[in-house]
Amino acid sequence: MPEADVKEEKNFHLDKPARSEPFFLKGSNSLDWGLKNRLSQIFRPESGKTVMLAIDHGYFQGPTTGLERVDVNILPLVPYADTLMLTRGILRTIIPPTYTRGIVLRASGGPSILKELSNERIAVDIEDAIRLNVAALAVQVFIGGENETQSVHNMTRLVDMGNRYGIATLAVTAVGREMVRDAKYMRLATRICAELGATYVKTYFVEDDFETVTAACPVPIVIAGGKKLPELDALNMAYNAIQQGAAGVDMGRNIFQAEAPVAMIQAVRKVVHEGAKPEAAYDYYMTEKKAG
Ligand code: R5P
Repeated sequence: MPEADVKEEKNFHLDKPARSEPFFLKGSNSLDWGLKNRLSQIFRPESGKTVMLAIDHGYFQGPTTGLERVDVNILPLVPYADTLMLTRGILRTIIPPTYTRGIVLRASGGPSILKELSNERIAVDIEDAIRLNVAALAVQVFIGGENETQSVHNMTRLVDMGNRYGIATLAVTAVGREMVRDAKYMRLATRICAELGATYVKTYFVEDDFETVTAACPVPIVIAGGKKLPELDALNMAYNAIQQGAAGVDMGRNIFQAEAPVAMIQAVRKVVHEGAKPEAAYDYYMTEKKAG
C-alpha cells in the first residue's frame, strides 16, 4: 500500500531553516558536488588542510634518490598521507587499489632532465584519469618560461576536461632557473593559474611576504617541499607557510629523503593539521626516530 500523505502524521520541522553550509575550502563554494567530494579526499575537512606526498619525480628524472623502490620506501608512508601525487605508471604498478584517499595524478610530461623541461604536453587522457578514479590532475605551469603559453594552454585544457567530469586541477608553478623566487613572482604565477581556472595551486614558499601570495590567490595554495633541508628547517618552512595562509604542503624529498621518513611525515602532519610549533614537531620527530 502506498503511504497516504496525511500532513498531521508527518513532521516537516517547519521551525528549522534548511541547512546550507559553505564548503570548507577557499574559493570552492560554487563547485559541483562531485568536485567538492574529490577535494574532500585531498584536503581534510576537519582542518581544511592537506599533507600531499609527492612521489612523481620519476616522470622527468627517473629513479630519484629515495624513490628507487617505491614499493619498499614509499608504501610505509602511504597511511600517513592525505593524498598521493604520482604518475599513472606508479599508481597502477605499486599502489594497492584498496587505497581510498584522493589521488593527484601527474597529467603533464614529455621532456626529461636532459632537455628543456618547460616543453611539456598533456600526458594523460581524461578517460584514463576517470578509469583510475583520481581526485585531481596536476600540471606544470611555467610562467615567464620559454614555453609559457603552451604550459598555460595545457592547464586550461585540463581544467576544461576536469570540470566536465568533476575532477580538480592542481596547477604547479614551476620556477625556471632564470626567474627570481620572490613573492612578486609567486603572486603573478599563482594568480594567473587561479584566474584561468585551476582548482588549487602549488607554489614555493618565500620568506618575505608569502601572506600576500596566499591573499592574492582566490583558491587554496599548497607549498612545494623543494630540495632536501635539515628536518627542523623543513618543519619551519611548513609552519611559516601554514601560518601565512597556505592550505597545506605537497612534500616529497623532505619526507622520503629524511633520515626517518615515517617519523617525518607524522611531524609534518602535526604542523599542518594541528598547528604544532616546528620545535615541538621536531621533538616528536626525534622521539619517533629513536623509537623506530
Ligand atoms: C614538481 O614540480 C614535481 O611535481 C615534483 O616531482 C614534486 O612535486 C617535487 O616535490 P619535492 O620538491 O617536495 O620533492
